[in-house]
Amino acid sequence: MTDGKDFKAHIITLGCQQNEADSERISGALVSLGYTVTDDDASADLIIINTCAIREHAERRALSFIGRYKHNKTKNPDMVIGVCGCMMAQKHRMDQVIRFPYVDFAFGTGSMHRLPEFVYTALTKGKRKFIPDPDKMQICEEIPVLRKSGYKAWVSIMYGCNNFCTYCIVPYVRGRERSRMPKDIIAEVKELIENGYKDITLLGQNVNSYGKDLDGKPTVAYLINEISKLDGDFWLHLMTSHPKDATSEMIDAISSSKYCANCFHLPLQSGSDAILKKMNRHYDIERYLSVVSELKEKCKDITLTTDIIVGFPGETEEDFQKTLDVVSKVRYDSIYTFIYSPRKGTPAAVMEEQIPEEIQKERFNRLVDLQNSISKDFNDAMVGKTVKVLVDGKSKNNENVYMSRTENNRIVHFESDKDYTGQFINIKITRGDTFALYGEI
Ligand code: 5AD
Ligand code: SF4
Repeated sequence: MTDGKDFKAHIITLGCQQNEADSERISGALVSLGYTVTDDDASADLIIINTCAIREHAERRALSFIGRYKHNKTKNPDMVIGVCGCMMAQKHRMDQVIRFPYVDFAFGTGSMHRLPEFVYTALTKGKRKFIPDPDKMQICEEIPVLRKSGYKAWVSIMYGCNNFCTYCIVPYVRGRERSRMPKDIIAEVKELIENGYKDITLLGQNVNSYGKDLDGKPTVAYLINEISKLDGDFWLHLMTSHPKDATSEMIDAISSSKYCANCFHLPLQSGSDAILKKMNRHYDIERYLSVVSELKEKCKDITLTTDIIVGFPGETEEDFQKTLDVVSKVRYDSIYTFIYSPRKGTPAAVMEEQIPEEIQKERFNRLVDLQNSISKDFNDAMVGKTVKVLVDGKSKNNENVYMSRTENNRIVHFESDKDYTGQFINIKITRGDTFALYGEI
């Protein structure tokens, strides 16, 4: 295929860690076809855009990337452009992408194993291919992985979601829950540890329901316990959990594991029982706060993070106040705040009482202000303490400054003559602001 030429592929990844993990498989597959992966889109012979559909903004970004590459194709008609990911699992978006004549192929999240075939067809000037997902999506263990980082790794433990929260597109674009076999997951983690990986995240849309579809019903607690028997020096993270399925068994496994990072992401979405019901979340605030209490009791000094949607259809000022109350009560380390974005085909998109944008924005700002003051208190309280960090590399803005993260994902900047990227070191915190900590080795 190569005629001595070095074929280069450039991959754009939009959206969540699941997409990051998928892109590492796309890279692995392309390398086994003979491509090298490049950060430079201008020199690429193949461009893959791995899209996200979670909010309107993500979809607009994907369309703008596709638009931008028309120019590359005009300059180099032999180059190949492919689009994949969650957005392509929706028929109306696939139809839209077909209308970009320079896109060679597009496929949804369930057809990634066919990537070599799509690339081959495009290179041999075959017919353009636009492949919707199969009805029953399966797991392909054989796709090779090319990890972006040498010390931080995503390990998917399950795919898909069965929950159908009324605002969310994920169950429609990633299909029903499918769990990987424990032996495959544990073997992958073991290999990562042996290769010196320091930060391993077990990934799934709802890691609490891991294993329900497998014989013997292994749980995420079982995975944590098995991984904790391995020898190594690493942090183990979980992403993401659903409060309705968080079990005492899982919390016990986290608290007794020597590797589990002392932090937990527990999406709240709203502090109002009425809105949670309209969201089809299957828990109320009493249940949510009981999980928080159990985590705080069993895991001393654990820090919590969350996802919150503001301006869901029908959200009143009173409902929103309840969200602020929960945020004040739980005191999250940080929160991911989203303005509700209607997704075509989901029940919430056609609910009455959609909230005007000005009100959504005003509530969003009030929530962010409240959280910023809490985050600032946390960071101030860190001054004088010594913390273990994993070094991420040089800061983008300052040559002599390095960026690192604590086990609970707080950003720590420090100066150093030596490059400790990918290693654990201890930093004494000298200063904190709302978004970061500063310290010295
Ligand atoms: N609008 C806004 N935020 C959303 N999320 C999911 N769907 C939507 C939507 N339609 C948020 C939820 C979820 C996070 C990953 O994205 O908070 O937990
Ligand atoms: Fe979406 Fe709800 Fe599934 Fe999370 S649990 S992916 S918010 S449907």
